Amino acid sequence: MIFKNATIKDLNALIKIEQASFCQKDDPLSRRAMSYHLKLNRIIGAYQEDELLGYILIIPNKIARIYSLAISPKARGLNIATKLIEKALKENANLRLEVRKDNVIAINLYEKLGFTCKGIKKRFYPDGCDSKIYQKLANSPYM
Ligand SMILES: CC(C)(COP(=O)(O)OP(=O)(O)OC[C@H]1O[C@@H](n2cnc3c(N)ncnc32)[C@H](O)[C@@H]1OP(=O)(O)O)[C@@H](O)C(=O)NCCC(=O)NCCS
Repeated sequence: MIFKNATIKDLNALIKIEQASFCQKDDPLSRRAMSYHLKLNRIIGAYQEDELLGYILIIPNKIARIYSLAISPKARGLNIATKLIEKALKENANLRLEVRKDNVIAINLYEKLGFTCKGIKKRFYPDGCDSKIYQKLANSPYM
């Protein structure tokens, strides 16, 4: 498995993973938004023999934001998201994200990696679901 910056050539594959991973209620990224973030080099892809299997989109800042993360359904449960987040943590000392309150799988993933819940944004998603804000700061314990 190789982890590297995604490029505009990956746009179709990224949109395919996005559509397989998020419904309208999750507010998925549009093609235009994805291509904007690609041009700013904000997306790291996980590749197996040139096939894109997942991605993480990071918006850099003092506390950088995991803006999106998704793994192709056929490649889930193989630690790819874990490795993408670990790579993002090497490049960004501090990370923060929002996750749907009912996304138990993603919440398990973030808690396993030592992220802690810092608050809730009420009715953050289009269907009225709350989000939980998770963050991991430099020097916080890694489980
Ligand atoms: C959430 C998601 C990114 C996880 O990707 P993944 O590569 O399958 O995750 P990993 O294999 O690295 O799993 C890491 C941890 O996540 C949790 N996890 C993964 N799959 C799980 C499942 N089916 N049930 C419960 N917990 C699960 C576990 O804590 C797991 O650690 P463990 O293997 O030690 O038990 C993936 O399921 C996905 O793309 N979901 C749809 C999009 C999404 O929800 N993105 C996150 C938005 S905030």
